[in-house]
Amino acid sequence: MKTQEILFRKTSAIPSPNFGLFSLYKYPAKFIPQVPAFVMENYAKKGMRVFDPFAGFGTVGYTARLYGLDYELWDLNPLLKHLHFLCEIEPKPLDKSLVDKIKAHPQEFLPNWRSLSYWHPEAFLPMLSKAWTFYHQTADEHTKGLLLVPLLKLTKHFSYADEKLHKLYRSKHAKEKVERLLKEDYQGLFFGMLEREIQKTLQKLSEYQTLGPQKVKSTVKAGVDVLEEDLKEPVNILITSPPYLQAQEYIRSTKLELFWLGYTENYI
Ligand SMILES: C[S@@+](CC[C@H](N)C(=O)[O-])C[C@H]1O[C@@H](n2cnc3c(N)ncnc32)[C@H](O)[C@@H]1O
Repeated sequence: MKTQEILFRKTSAIPSPNFGLFSLYKYPAKFIPQVPAFVMENYAKKGMRVFDPFAGFGTVGYTARLYGLDYELWDLNPLLKHLHFLCEIEPKPLDKSLVDKIKAHPQEFLPNWRSLSYWHPEAFLPMLSKAWTFYHQTADEHTKGLLLVPLLKLTKHFSYADEKLHKLYRSKHAKEKVERLLKEDYQGLFFGMLEREIQKTLQKLSEYQTLGPQKVKSTVKAGVDVLEEDLKEPVNILITSPPYLQAQEYIRSTKLELFWLGYTENYI
């Protein structure tokens, strides 16, 4: 058998592992896009269908679009459904007064979670609630798409969770961060960060568009267990990175985000 050494980072037209949409959100054990791109570039033919049953962030799907390949993604984590929507939204700018509308929005939504006060100081809840109530009750689909990652990042930043770690962990460093924020104009910082993160999302989505994603057929099943699912349509290529942690570790690492997205304690 002939073996060939390759450096994935140099094998495709995707300029870098952090290019565009691919680095918009930190998901544990995410593929660099050059890995699925290598398989697609070398083995896929027009009309083939690609499958990733442990899709996580959905890297295989976003890459399949660049090669005009249909695909199917599954994951136990319901976050996939929300994240996957990102590749379908156009990076057109949002209404300039959006952040002001969020600032003035009523606070109605709070996660249905007993440990909420363990993860967020009381002082941060009003601004988080305004932003997430706007997301759940007022935002149209395009606005929701562009707000998703900024809100996920802000939620973690304005919490006791350590942002440097994938797993949900209340570290000494995170506690110090909260103490620092509480001494500052945290509302100004929150809404300033929201503006910047929206701009960053727009820029990352525009970068992804420069790679020429195509309209393809996609099936996304989020919140499903591979052991209980069946493929309804045949697939030609399987590209996946199976879980190296126990399934509950992946869910635990995104628990804070899932609660604010409206999932209940029972479901999670
Ligand atoms: C290594 S990650 C995949 C990361 C992905 N390649 C990416 O680029 O983001 C493995 C994924 O398997 C999922 N998973 C674990 N157990 C599962 C199960 N029983 N059914 C479906 N998905 C599962 C986890 O939620 C996690 O997202």
